[in-house]
Amino acid sequence: MSTTLRAFSAVALVLTVIGGMSALTAPVAAAESHQVNPFLGATQYVNPLWKAEVEAEAVAQQSANPSLAAQMRVVENQPTGVWMDSMGAIAGPSGGMGLAAHLDAALTQKTSAPEVVNIVIYDLPGRDCNALASNGEIPATAAGLTKYQTSYIDPIVAILSNTKYSSLRISAVIEPDSLPNIVTNSGVAACQTAGPFYEQGIEYALNKLHAINNVYTFLDSSHAGWLGWPNNSSGAATEFAKVANATTAKFASIDGFITDTANSTPLVEPFITGTTTVNGTQAISGTFYQYNPDLDEATFTADMYTHLVAAGFPSGIGMIVDTSRNGWGGSARPTAASTSTVVDSWVNATKVDRRPHRGAWCNASGAGLGNFPQATPSGYSASHLFAFIWVKPPGESDGSSTLIVNNQGKGFDRMCDPTYAPPGAGWNGALTGALAGAPLAGQWFSAQFVQLVTNAFPKVGGNGATPTPTALPTPTSSASRTPTPSATATVRPSVTPVPSATATVRPSVTPVPSATATPRPSTSATPVPSGTGSGTAKCAATYAISSSWGNGFNANVTVNNTGTVATKTWKVTWTWGGNQAITNSWNAAVTSSGTAVTATNAAFNGVIAGGGNTSFGFGAAFSGTNTNPTLVCSAT
Ligand code: BGC
Repeated sequence: MSTTLRAFSAVALVLTVIGGMSALTAPVAAAESHQVNPFLGATQYVNPLWKAEVEAEAVAQQSANPSLAAQMRVVENQPTGVWMDSMGAIAGPSGGMGLAAHLDAALTQKTSAPEVVNIVIYDLPGRDCNALASNGEIPATAAGLTKYQTSYIDPIVAILSNTKYSSLRISAVIEPDSLPNIVTNSGVAACQTAGPFYEQGIEYALNKLHAINNVYTFLDSSHAGWLGWPNNSSGAATEFAKVANATTAKFASIDGFITDTANSTPLVEPFITGTTTVNGTQAISGTFYQYNPDLDEATFTADMYTHLVAAGFPSGIGMIVDTSRNGWGGSARPTAASTSTVVDSWVNATKVDRRPHRGAWCNASGAGLGNFPQATPSGYSASHLFAFIWVKPPGESDGSSTLIVNNQGKGFDRMCDPTYAPPGAGWNGALTGALAGAPLAGQWFSAQFVQLVTNAFPKVGGNGATPTPTALPTPTSSASRTPTPSATATVRPSVTPVPSATATVRPSVTPVPSATATPRPSTSATPVPSGTGSGTAKCAATYAISSSWGNGFNANVTVNNTGTVATKTWKVTWTWGGNQAITNSWNAAVTSSGTAVTATNAAFNGVIAGGGNTSFGFGAAFSGTNTNPTLVCSAT
């Protein structure tokens, strides 16, 4: 763990001049050593700007709904993340607060307890490569990377290094959505271009931030509905390890991982687990879960932790969950499992996550505040939780619900449009469920805030009282919730929206899953062996349809290294015999030209040990007969 690898800061002595005399005053306390869990025993910084926005809401509600106003006044004292979402945010807008102003304010809030300030590092070149709402300001080019390093990270580091702030614990959430996009969206051109810059940018940020003793780095690990499928979570752990190993301090550069940043996947689904059956059929086989065994963040963090340690991270690594908006309380919250015997109806009436689809990431209607920020929450031992924190400030929009022209690097993503029916699998004509009337990402959205407080779970105590969390069920162990992988078939649930040329669906936060799970019995999963590789490494690929519905299907391709030497890269090609068209892919870069398809390894899975294998998958639409193609595999 980093604690042991970092040097203690030297004791600082302060010279003061009193009445013209120089006097050596009492030594200022030695800067503390780098902690394992910075949240332990600490208070956290309350952003006064956010607090003022919440207070304005409370004032607005006071006469019509005094108890809601009282709840808001409890909420306004909660710590929230300070997003460094542009180069301009570092100095801050004129009359506003930049990073130094926030740190100064944190020093004034600090009591005798340690004080954590949660900041978000969020300005990578080509940011948000698979969405539009927060596209950012720096292009995904070599020059953009230099700009990120010298005009974004370096100025932040210069401020954080100021010894004036060494008594604060700075927790830095690093670049939400970025590495998860490398893991699952390598088939998306913008992500393919941005991926290397994400890795190099984060490597640079980690090297600089880790070198500051009182800064704690937490990499974003998305959420259960995105990386919950075992192939995705293990692929993510491999990717995180790759980035960690590129840094000077290797694994010690990273203090932990955060999940559910700005998302609303529930902490716990109280009435469903990955092994629940409905009338003899797995609940997760339905449309909503798409065979993803991780239904909630409690399960996902536990699984992710296991994968991270298996990938080489030290066992002292900690997980954090952003519980700012994953509460799902209010009158519509189910209080018991449904009695339906039909899987989809049962799941829909039983789950507390009331989104139409787990890919619905924008201003989710029905969501509430989640657990209040707290260190080492009990009841989730397998998750190795350092804390629940609020990274996304509740009440700040995820993106505008209609096109709003702006110069803030904010686009219009139709996942934020309540009138839009995303075309992807699993949506089945449902609308996004995004709240109407939303302003640009990051701007105050009053209606959303009212909803979040109203639907908080646990409920917010009224009249200024401390919120009383209602009892949460203890999650079952991750092991009991992971389905047993079957021999060769890997189910890729039909979750990702179809990114057709015109679709502005945001698959970045939309799950792009690949999973090892019990296959649907109705689908063909017969592997079709093919191909031998060239060079010193050899490969053979097998193809299996993992699920199909109407005119769509998901397929999984296993790439086996049949040689004895590790591959460096691999490529699988085939030609469709019928009218198939790939709509999305994961764990490989897949391109089509007419009926010819070429899939090349993703950054993290080009190396396959001799005798080993990896897999990738895709979703596709078809008409007519869906005949399995013959694959050709080559490797270097
Ligand atoms: C936006 C940022 C904003 C953050 C917190 C992100 O989606 O892009 O501008 O600061 O959310 O609200």
